[in-house]
Amino acid sequence: MEKHSHSLPKVVGDGEPLYLSGFGNHFSSEAVPGALPPDQNSPLICPYGLYAEQLSGTSFTSPRKLNLRSWLYRIKPSVTHEPFKLRVPSNGKLLSEFSQANSSANPTQLRWKPVDVPESPVDFIDGLYTICGAGSSFLRHGYAVHMYTANKSMDNCAFCNADGDFLIVPQKGRLWITTECGKLNVSPGEIVVLPQGFRFAVDLPDGPSRGYVAEIFGTHFQLPDLGPIGANGLAAPRDFLTPTAWFEDITRPGYTIVQKFGGELFTAVQDFSPFNVVAWHGNYVPYKYNLSKFCPYNTVLIDHGDPSINTVLTAPTDKPGVALLDFVIFPPRWLVAEHTFRPPYYHRNCMSEFMGLIHGSYEAKAADAFLPGGASLHNCMSPHGPDTQSYEATIARGNDAGPTKLAGTMAFMFESSLIPRICQWALESPFMDHDYYQCWIGLRSHFTVKETCPESASNENGHRETGNGSLMLSNE
Ligand SMILES: [Fe+2]
Repeated sequence: MEKHSHSLPKVVGDGEPLYLSGFGNHFSSEAVPGALPPDQNSPLICPYGLYAEQLSGTSFTSPRKLNLRSWLYRIKPSVTHEPFKLRVPSNGKLLSEFSQANSSANPTQLRWKPVDVPESPVDFIDGLYTICGAGSSFLRHGYAVHMYTANKSMDNCAFCNADGDFLIVPQKGRLWITTECGKLNVSPGEIVVLPQGFRFAVDLPDGPSRGYVAEIFGTHFQLPDLGPIGANGLAAPRDFLTPTAWFEDITRPGYTIVQKFGGELFTAVQDFSPFNVVAWHGNYVPYKYNLSKFCPYNTVLIDHGDPSINTVLTAPTDKPGVALLDFVIFPPRWLVAEHTFRPPYYHRNCMSEFMGLIHGSYEAKAADAFLPGGASLHNCMSPHGPDTQSYEATIARGNDAGPTKLAGTMAFMFESSLIPRICQWALESPFMDHDYYQCWIGLRSHFTVKETCPESASNENGHRETGNGSLMLSNE
């Protein structure tokens, strides 16, 4: 269903840019009144002599409910630049196509400590490095998980990702992002999605900064269906914020567009700011979301819900219910289940799970082991679950734990049906926690056999059998 938004921009907080509210809306925004052509997309002459330019995020012929495009009305069109050249220096730690030649299959449960932000000057582009991924940006199917550490704003350049959409999860330091649609201020605890092809520049007002990035190839994020939950709950559409038109009309000698294309960086020089869009309309837009707005649902009687209950955004595949990438959070919430092991259960999953921690601690791991800014990867079918300390503490509390609130925490997961290959630099990172497996090694057997049936008797193997011949086994 199409949604149209012509409401006044929403003001959020002091000094924040103005935003438009809603997910998937057809927005309109103009920085100068009258800059949007009122009756058509591409008039012979646009208001104020602007150039009309369409940015397509889906094929022209995609079904209407999936079709994404915006019309940008700008001072000069984005084609006005010198030829693309390979960037020198390159960033050799970015991949957009994963194969035996450039990355490794590894079923080991992996965990990384928080990576230090370097002392030497590095901006968002050079601070970005791939951890793992699957598929290919060229074939428009797959994803990459990146992280970044950076300490300075991008200078006289804009980044453009031709490969896919970025979902950025800042963990340390705010991101002030200028896009062709306007400005977004993003703080840790918020996320931002920068769709394929948008030009943007990242300023770091706090200096040292760190975070996580999921990049998806060939599709876009959607809100998950809510099924029996009903019409409300989880992430509300109105809490997604899109910028309002903002432009600068200035000469910028030597301004560089850095384009990520097939995982390689190219540069194109122009003499003006690319943030020269005076007005725009459409439904292909960057947006941000504050994770504290999330309305979690959970069990109210027994058992631990599957993590899918906390899906914020999902990037679908063509198979119903099978995600290319789900963005799932583990926010503050009450735990109330009766006679239930409340942390996540032990499991093996056909999906692969990359986890990060924005702040606080994660319920299934000791507080000093999985740290904010750190990460873990539990690949397809590799077993995982609470560590020994968490398991023993949970069963020691017993049935009388009562309702408890998990507070002051925000963990998240990128979960994919595609099996990630892992970059060599991630496997060789000095921040790799080589002792991760130790957290489960101490899990001891609690197994006992109880004589629960008086008529039971030992069989010839020494096992005790019940009257109907079945073994009575019990955990203590
Ligand atoms: Fe898991």
